[in-house]
Amino acid sequence: MKEEHLQMAYRVFERAAEMSESDANLLERARKALEDAYAPYSNFFVGAAVLLENGSVVVGSNQENASFPLSLCAERVALGAVESLFPHAKVLVMAISIRNQKKPIDRPAAPCGACRQVIVEKEWRQKAPFRLLLQGESGPIYVFESGRDLLPLTFDPDYL
Ligand code: THU
Repeated sequence: MKEEHLQMAYRVFERAAEMSESDANLLERARKALEDAYAPYSNFFVGAAVLLENGSVVVGSNQENASFPLSLCAERVALGAVESLFPHAKVLVMAISIRNQKKPIDRPAAPCGACRQVIVEKEWRQKAPFRLLLQGESGPIYVFESGRDLLPLTFDPDYL
């Protein structure tokens, strides 16, 4: 028997002004995108903004439904929109911003497990990781270099 250890690193920025202008702008787009969320049930607003290699930015927000399980997360709405608007376009960065209308959140929220799986499959398809910028309503910004950092031991198409 042997024991394996997994390591993952992420960077923490105290404020957007410490980041590159491009990343700070993308976070701003994500923050604006959450205003378009339809979240009457959870009151939890999520915005995602995706920067493509072609320079375009595609945004998404969570879209809920009275039949709760049908609700769509912002990250998957954004990645679906990428494939619709710019099929096969390469993603460079995804920024995710949140706001809970019931209480202030001073730390980033990481994507849910289902969104991590979809993020990782996009990385697999484009054969390159992309950076994730995570932001709460206030507080620090977390930067991950790949979706795989948030989903180790990933199930990916190579198994099939
Ligand atoms: N949500 C997202 O949009 N992204 C995530 O990664 C986590 C959860 C949404 C789904 C639902 O509309 C609300 O947040 C509360 O779960």
